[in-house]
Amino acid sequence: MDAPSPARVYDALLGGSHNFEVDRAAAAHGTRLLPGLPIGAVANRRFLRRAVTYLTGIGVRQFVDLGAGIPTVGNTHEIAQEHDPGSRVVYVDIDAVAVAHATAILAGNDNAVAIRGDVRMPEALLAAVDHTGLIDRGQPVALLMVALLHLLPDSDAPAAATAVLRDAVAPGSHLVISHLTSERRAEQTAMLSSAVARRDGISLVFRPRLQIAAFFGDFAPVEPGLVEISDWRPDVTEQRARLPETSLYLAGVAQKV
Ligand SMILES: C[S@@+](CC[C@H](N)C(=O)[O-])C[C@H]1O[C@@H](n2cnc3c(N)ncnc32)[C@H](O)[C@@H]1O
Repeated sequence: MDAPSPARVYDALLGGSHNFEVDRAAAAHGTRLLPGLPIGAVANRRFLRRAVTYLTGIGVRQFVDLGAGIPTVGNTHEIAQEHDPGSRVVYVDIDAVAVAHATAILAGNDNAVAIRGDVRMPEALLAAVDHTGLIDRGQPVALLMVALLHLLPDSDAPAAATAVLRDAVAPGSHLVISHLTSERRAEQTAMLSSAVARRDGISLVFRPRLQIAAFFGDFAPVEPGLVEISDWRPDVTEQRARLPETSLYLAGVAQKV
C-alpha cells in the first residue's frame, strides 16, 4: 500500500473509491502533467462498453477480459449478460486487489469469474483460463486487452505474448485493444512516461500507431479499424467526449479469419 498500483491509480482517475492516498497522489501528479488523463480514462471505459455491446450484438458469448482492473461502472459481464445471461466472462488481472473486488461482485454469478494472471506469461494464463471451465477455446472468444498493453514495456515482450494469445483462440475470435498513444503529443507523453516511471515505478508506454496496430497481427480489422477512441463506433445516445484529450488512446477490434 506504500506504492501506487496501476489498477488503483486508474480507479482514482475514474473517480472510483477503491484506491489509497498514494494512488490518488499518483493520479493527480499524472493529471498535472497530462490534463487529459481522467477524460481519457472515461473515454476508454465508454469504448469498452461499445466494443462489448457490438460483440454481443454479433453473437459473441465468451469473453476473456485481460487486465480487467477494479470493477467500476459498466463491467464486461454486466454488458454481456444484459444481452444474454448465458454469456461467460473470465476476468484476469495481475493485481490482487482488482481480483478480490471482482470476486466479491461476482458472488452468485455462475457464468463469470475473476482470476489472477499475468499476460506476460500467456501459456500459464491460458491454462488458468481453461481451468475455470467457463471458456470453450474450440469456439470463438473475445479477448479484451483494454488499456493494458501500454503498461508493458518492450522488455516485457508484449508483442510476443499477444501473438501467443492470438494463436490460442479459434477462428472467428475477436481481439479488442485500446492503448495510450504518442501520435498526437510525442513530447508531452514521453515526459509523462519518464516522470511516472521515476516517481511511481509504473511503466506507461505511449506507442505510435504502427506498433499498436501490430498487436492485432493478421486479424482482420472490424470497421472503422484502429482509430481515436471516441471515433470507434460512437454511440449517438452517449454524450460524446469529443475533446482533444480522448485522442490519447487509439482503439480497435479485429477478428481472426
Ligand atoms: C488501466 S487498467 C485497465 C482496466 C480495464 N481493462 C479498463 O480498460 O477499464 C490496467 C489493468 O491491467 C492490469 N495489469 C497490468 N499488468 C498486467 C499483467 N502483466 N497481466 C495482467 N494484468 C495486468 C493492472 O493491474 C490494471 O488493473
